[in-house]
Amino acid sequence: MIRGKIIKISGPAVIAGGMTGAKMNDIVRVGNLGLIGEIIRLDRDTAFIQVYEDTSGLFVGEPVESTAEPLVVELGPGLLGGIFDGIQRPLDEIEKQSGFWMARGLIVNRLGREKTWHFSPRVKKGDTVQGGDTLGEVKETGVFLHKIMAPPGIRGVVKEVKKGEFKVEDTVVSLEDGQQLSMMQKWPVRRPRPLKKKLPPDEPFITGQRVFDLLFPIALGGNAIVPGGFGTGKTVVEQTLAKYCNADILVYVGCGERGNEITDVLTEFPHLEDPKTGGPLMSRTILVVNTSNMPIAAREASIYTGTTLAEYYRDMGYNVALMADSTSRWAEALREISSRLEEMPGEEGFPTYLATRLASFYERSGRVECLGEPGRRGSVTIVGAVSPPGGDFSEPVTQHSMRVSGAFWALDAHLAYRRHFPAINWHKSYTLYYQPMKDWYLKNVNHQWDNLRTQMLQIQQKDAELQEVVQLVGPDALQDSERLVLESARMLRDGFLQQHAFSPVDASCSLNKQYKMLNVFILFHEKCKKEIEAGIPVTTLLHLPVREGISRLKEIPEERFDEHYARLEEEIKEVFENLHKPELTGVNDGAADKGI
Ligand SMILES: Nc1ncnc2c1ncn2[C@@H]1O[C@H](COP(=O)(O)OP(=O)(O)OP(=O)(O)O)[C@@H](O)[C@H]1O
Ligand SMILES: [Mg+2]
Repeated sequence: MIRGKIIKISGPAVIAGGMTGAKMNDIVRVGNLGLIGEIIRLDRDTAFIQVYEDTSGLFVGEPVESTAEPLVVELGPGLLGGIFDGIQRPLDEIEKQSGFWMARGLIVNRLGREKTWHFSPRVKKGDTVQGGDTLGEVKETGVFLHKIMAPPGIRGVVKEVKKGEFKVEDTVVSLEDGQQLSMMQKWPVRRPRPLKKKLPPDEPFITGQRVFDLLFPIALGGNAIVPGGFGTGKTVVEQTLAKYCNADILVYVGCGERGNEITDVLTEFPHLEDPKTGGPLMSRTILVVNTSNMPIAAREASIYTGTTLAEYYRDMGYNVALMADSTSRWAEALREISSRLEEMPGEEGFPTYLATRLASFYERSGRVECLGEPGRRGSVTIVGAVSPPGGDFSEPVTQHSMRVSGAFWALDAHLAYRRHFPAINWHKSYTLYYQPMKDWYLKNVNHQWDNLRTQMLQIQQKDAELQEVVQLVGPDALQDSERLVLESARMLRDGFLQQHAFSPVDASCSLNKQYKMLNVFILFHEKCKKEIEAGIPVTTLLHLPVREGISRLKEIPEERFDEHYARLEEEIKEVFENLHKPELTGVNDGAADKGI
């Protein structure tokens, strides 16, 4: 047994001497209380340890013991619906054992050991199995099928298979070489789980949010960052995605945010109805929480714990969404531990390895061909919130995250202040996933998808240019066709891009509705453009009552939408046909006065 002594304590960081034989990333028990820590640097026999629990009361000279094992998560049935701390200890279990105040040095099982699960085998005696193969299935929550897979690295011939009710540690498959496989496996959190191969990002991660799905989509297995200053809507974006995205499984990492924000999640999520199944949303969600008042080192680990849980469900062939709120608080934990260990600071005091750590986190997203038989595909999509101090995107966490993420969803304090939500700045945001997915939209939604999107982007671009002119010389200097652009851009902003996260009808919008809504906006714009070219004044067009109906399209529920859309499209065509017959529309475009 490797046993050393504490030589220095600095907040969550502890330095221990006499640790000969200890390995990097070994889990250690620190002090008389046996606090859980991890070796994060070794210098001969001196170990630098981050401690996952409060270190107050610890003394120099107390023992440090290595467990000779890395930080692992336990994987198996019973994870869904769970609420864990940063090192996967179930919060309810901690509370049961320690009461209101979290006891220290507490060893709790990560997966419940007592509960039994019905195991239905998918292999038989004599089959050869290897890492990733599906050994059997368990109904985990509701109708959700949990695949029990052979742990990576295993290979052998099945000697005996069991069927029926078992606890997670019971043997369900025995191999001829004597290996006993249970429903539970362990995996070190800092090592990505193996896969057969990564697949290209050509299918969208559908969010139900128009600004993302239409303008800045990401792929299943892609990643995005949501940077935004204080109160601009990061948490609402993360939670709205959790509720409405097309992933099968959600892993929500509440990382270093204030206790009350997480309390909101903890109290709200268990009561949320799943828009997909009608059951509770929690039955396909895992929460990993480390609030700002919980030990800071566990916050550092929480992101890896969350990612490993997500990869495990990916390996079963599911699409998993991982939301991390906020990666800045995670980086701050990294900074604090690094400075306590007196490491050389980089930009703004963050450790020099901040960029590589961020990259290794986002690189764990991806759509993959999973290990093992029968063949299956799964994905982990990562959306990380970033909270740059003062909303300044030039700071290191935003900059390094931006370099490794495929989409940048920039929240804008001015939009939030004007209560334009989601407050996504459409000039600063971008995505690298649209081009590889373009064909998917043309095939699965409408062949006009790309044309409409381009037209919308052109209107916004032109609007930005014209806004500058207006600032300089005022709106009167604009021609009618230019005023139309300003008006259409405004209609698109208010009627299309704005989407209230708490609206019962509009919180989520199908791709069909998004496409049709945009089609109407662009149709109206194009018709107006033609009329202006034909000499009709823009003021006449802007007074057409049909505009009201277009702006209110988002309030029409999905089930009535197609019918409503067809009627509105007809109405628009009619209005424009009648435009030249003033007596029918009641709109006087001046033509009658001129005797035309
Ligand atoms: N899509 C939205 N629809 C409606 N309201 C929204 C939306 N997004 C944000 N809001 C409003 O903005 C408020 C602040 O949002 P949120 O808590 O998500 O900000 P934040 O960026 O996470 O803040 P913090 O920096 O404090 O973590 C919300 O309480 C809500 O009132
Ligand atoms: Mg927040």
